[in-house]
Amino acid sequence: MVISAKEMLQQARAGKYAVAQMNINNLEWTKAILTVAQELNSPMILGVSEGAGKYMTGYKTVVAMTNAMLEEMGITVPVALHLDHGSYEHCYKCIDAGFMSVMFDGSHYPIDENVAKTRELVEVCHAKGISIEAEVGSIGGEEDGVVGMGECADPDECKRITDLGIDFLAAGIGNIHGKYPANWKGLSFETLEAVKAKVGDIPLVLHGGTGIPEDMIKKAISLGVAKINVNTENQLAFAAATRKYIEAGKDLEGKGFDPRKLLAPGVEAIKDVVRTKLELFGSVGKA
Ligand code: 13P
Repeated sequence: MVISAKEMLQQARAGKYAVAQMNINNLEWTKAILTVAQELNSPMILGVSEGAGKYMTGYKTVVAMTNAMLEEMGITVPVALHLDHGSYEHCYKCIDAGFMSVMFDGSHYPIDENVAKTRELVEVCHAKGISIEAEVGSIGGEEDGVVGMGECADPDECKRITDLGIDFLAAGIGNIHGKYPANWKGLSFETLEAVKAKVGDIPLVLHGGTGIPEDMIKKAISLGVAKINVNTENQLAFAAATRKYIEAGKDLEGKGFDPRKLLAPGVEAIKDVVRTKLELFGSVGKA
C-alpha cells in the first residue's frame, strides 16, 4: 500500500541523501519507476500532477492502480503517492481518494492566505496520517513559450509556513520546471542557507530536478534537500526513444506495432533515467 512520505524524508534528511519524486502519467511509467526502485532497494515517491490525475481518469484510479501494482509486482520498498502542486480543492480530492501524501501549492496566494489554507490542510492531513508539502516562492517554468526565472523564497515566510507543522517544504531557490534557459544563473545557495537557518531540520524539496548540474544537486542535498522532483527528463527520454524506434521503421516491421513493443524503448529509457537519478541522489540501498 502507498504510504506517507514523512518518515522516508526524515531518514533522508538525517542520512544526507534525497528521495526522488518521479512523476507518473500512466501504467507504463509507474511500472518502470517501481521496477527500478525495487531493483536498487530505494524508497520512491510517485508524483501525480492534477493534469496527470485527470488523464488517468481520476485520483481513485491512480490509487487503485498503484496499490494493485505494488502487490502484484511484489514491491517491498517504501512507496508514497504524492499530489504534485495541488490546489486547495484537489488536495481534498486526493485525501478522499486515498492518497497518503499531498503537496498544497499556495505560493501564488498572498502569504496570509497561503498560511491560512496550509494551516487548515495540515490539520486535516495529520488527522489521517497523510504527509503534506507546502511551497513558498513560486517555482518558475515555461508558460506560453516564455520561460520565467525561478523566484527565491523569503526565509521569514518559509518559517511561517514551516511553523504550521508541514512535513516538508518546497522553497524556491531559483529552480524552475522544464528545461533551464541558457542564461540561467544557477541555484541560489545563499537563499537555501538562509531558509535552512530559519526552518531547522525539516526536509527541503527541490523542484525542477531536470537539468540541474550534478555538483549543484550534491550541494543542495548537503544543505538539507531531501526530496528532488524529476518529470521533464523522463518525458524527454521517453519521447526520444520512441522517435528512434519509429524513425527506424521498427513499428512497421514484424509485430513492431504491438503497443507493448512500441512503448518498450521508451520504458527502458525511463528506467535508465531513474537509475541515474537514484545513484546521484544517494538513495540506493536506503529502503
Ligand atoms: P522538472 O520538470 O524539471 O523535471 O521538474 C519536475 C517537478 O518539479 C515536478 O514538481
